[in-house]
Amino acid sequence: MTTLSGKGALVTGGSRGIGRAVVERLTGDGAQVVFSYRHDAEAAETVAGRTGAVAVRADQGDEEDLRRLFAEAERRLPGIDILVNNAAETGRALIADVTPELYERIFAVNARAVFLALQWAGRVMRDGGRIVNVSTINTELPAPAIALYAATKAAVEQFAKVAARELGGRGITVNNVLPGSTDTEMLRAANPPEALETLRSFTALGRLGRPQDVAAVVAFLAGPDSGWVTGQSVRATGGLLL
Ligand SMILES: NC(=O)c1ccc[n+]([C@@H]2O[C@H](COP(=O)([O-])OP(=O)(O)OC[C@H]3O[C@@H](n4cnc5c(N)ncnc54)[C@H](OP(=O)(O)O)[C@@H]3O)[C@@H](O)[C@H]2O)c1
Repeated sequence: MTTLSGKGALVTGGSRGIGRAVVERLTGDGAQVVFSYRHDAEAAETVAGRTGAVAVRADQGDEEDLRRLFAEAERRLPGIDILVNNAAETGRALIADVTPELYERIFAVNARAVFLALQWAGRVMRDGGRIVNVSTINTELPAPAIALYAATKAAVEQFAKVAARELGGRGITVNNVLPGSTDTEMLRAANPPEALETLRSFTALGRLGRPQDVAAVVAFLAGPDSGWVTGQSVRATGGLLL
């Protein structure tokens, strides 16, 4: 028997990057997994085919899509034991250039969607469940052009702390993982190669993170050994910030 056998998990944004590594890890540990993606159906079906997880197209910014995603998770899983809020968009823009539309979009995708998922999980999750939000080290390391990203992730971190208090009586834990620079399409889209080299040199371990490095921390917080850890924000950065 593997550690997560009999458990049901919903992972948002599982078609690539960190979310895909989380889907691979949780299914490898024995969980049944439903995951969402935004538009890359081919990538999502490849992950589904390889892992046995179920892929559901659902935009985090669309409440109807989210309701459908939650209903599908309830229908396909043996129960809701694990929720990993991973999907996010960066919405990179200097504060001076942020439009009302971009502001609304990034708050809807990165913060409101996580809040709706927490509300849903609070209703349906089995006792002893695990909620893990993938935040970012940028809530502690500000940089230009990430005001919306960092602010929405900071909101998510606060949701987790309050939810940890509200759900603790049922043995449900709620934690945040704060990845540093992790080698995914999101990181490469935001940084030219020379910037990646600088990011690498800032880490104590001397390399960029791999999605599997972050998935391992998520898996710990999603698993049976982390029951005494709740309301925490765990840095997973290879020692970017000490
Ligand atoms: N990479 C890093 O260095 C880094 C550092 C700190 C924190 N993080 C956090 O880690 C998480 C994953 O990042 P990543 O680098 O793996 O990103 P990524 O490579 O861009 O992958 C994002 C995943 O989320 C899905 N997604 C994006 N927007 C969505 C939306 N509106 N609705 C539904 N699904 C959506 C994508 O689906 P499609 O393929 O269909 O678009 C994809 O599966 C994010 O929360 C990010 O903020 C990443």
